Amino acid sequence: MPSYADSNGDGYGDFKGITSKLDYLQDLGVKGIWLTPFLKSPKVDNGYDVADYYEIDPTYGNKQDFDTFLKEAHKRGIKVIMDLVLNHTSKDSQWFQEAKKSKDNPYRDYYIWKDKPNNWESFFGGTAWELDVTNNQYYYHKFDVRMADLNWSNPKVVDEVQKILQFWLDAGVDGFRLDVINFLTTDGILADNPMKDGNQQHLYDIDQSGVKEAMKMIKATVNAYPNRFIVGEIGSDKIQVLKQYQSEELLDVVFNFNFGSIPAFSAERIFNELQSMEKVMSNYPTLFFGSHDMPRMMDRLADGNLEKASALAALIFTAKGVPFVYYGEEIGMHNIIAHSFEEIADIQGKTHYQLALQKRKTPEEALLEGNKNNRDKSRSPMQWSANEFAGFSIEKSWIKVSPDFKDNNVEVLRKDKNSIFYKYKELIALRNKEKVLQYGKYDRLEFKDNQILYTRSFEGERITVIVNFGKPTKIELPKGAKILLGETHLRTNKSIIYKH
Ligand code: NOJ
Repeated sequence: MPSYADSNGDGYGDFKGITSKLDYLQDLGVKGIWLTPFLKSPKVDNGYDVADYYEIDPTYGNKQDFDTFLKEAHKRGIKVIMDLVLNHTSKDSQWFQEAKKSKDNPYRDYYIWKDKPNNWESFFGGTAWELDVTNNQYYYHKFDVRMADLNWSNPKVVDEVQKILQFWLDAGVDGFRLDVINFLTTDGILADNPMKDGNQQHLYDIDQSGVKEAMKMIKATVNAYPNRFIVGEIGSDKIQVLKQYQSEELLDVVFNFNFGSIPAFSAERIFNELQSMEKVMSNYPTLFFGSHDMPRMMDRLADGNLEKASALAALIFTAKGVPFVYYGEEIGMHNIIAHSFEEIADIQGKTHYQLALQKRKTPEEALLEGNKNNRDKSRSPMQWSANEFAGFSIEKSWIKVSPDFKDNNVEVLRKDKNSIFYKYKELIALRNKEKVLQYGKYDRLEFKDNQILYTRSFEGERITVIVNFGKPTKIELPKGAKILLGETHLRTNKSIIYKH
């Protein structure tokens, strides 16, 4: 949301800005947009700290700007899902402000309070408990200390969430991306988490037994409206855990971070994940290699190599699953690096920096370590043109622009038919056209010589895809095969897609 297009020069992206880019997105072939949080928020965590579930943050515009954006998106056949954060609120939320006033305040039980904390840790580092001196009790925060966890064992919280869902569904959104949805504290504070090799095992604080009930309520509420979609962010590296949340009465699809956020490139590992998702998941998996929480796929997986990046794109648009593309991937955007502590806006990066400093590292070493976990590096403004601020804004940008924007931007790449932008466009057009690529099942899924190969079929049509991360190979096409994309003589990192 904050990094796409700024219409009023305040340095933050906004609804009017995105609305002005809808023609671009339509031309690219995009069918849906996931908006990161845009509700009123002090933005200590990029808006994942909601202060009011019914108000649009003024930085992004007003309700009318939102309505116009939605109407214009729908006009172009583009659906819109919103990021909903239901695990915690900002401490600025009216609910929390009331809750903290006294132990008998009607909102007290919207949050989780204890006289004595247990050993549970925050996912951003350190303890998950903070003393509130007003009443001398600790409140629970699974993430930043300025974001307090909601008490999902309180039926009033469940009712509030249902109202919020209905409000935004009535407003016309096509669905939700549910933030850390398996982290909901539905069963209260349980036993201390066990430790293993110095690391806390999140045995009791996530995947609590009531999470599915909460999801059922959410799904039933959403299902009362036609054609809506839910994607869940599930924090887990276990495919069996992911699988249990994906069903008709729970979530439509879930993110698998073992696939999407692998820290370094390995064709074999990518293949293994595809295979295990195929074996274990009952429905479609999600296919993505980037988000606002991880380093750019161009640097993390493609080593800055455009062909490799295109091959990865070929995979997410042709394998079985729901593809997600993080803004700017289509122009090969890179990470930005912070050169000082001040340049890290992201709380996770800052927390890691501070933790590193506590271990008495030098500020330089701490900065390096902070940078590792600095999620801001993938949040630089979208690069629209060679103008100042990359055409993202006319006056400033909340975060620095990547230094390569003069050569690497939409305006330049659109003029070059061999650019990565055109690869994305071609792939998206192919996926939009071919039902096999949207709905087809796998007839085979194989890995050999660093090539990922699959054949998918649907209603009597068959498409084979070879994504080549290995050596150049000559391939023999079956008789009558029609090449949809690529060459029969594959060069490294090129892929071929044919119908037969
Ligand atoms: C997951 C979001 O993607 C991330 O950006 C955020 O910091 C945490 N959830 C906490 O809401």
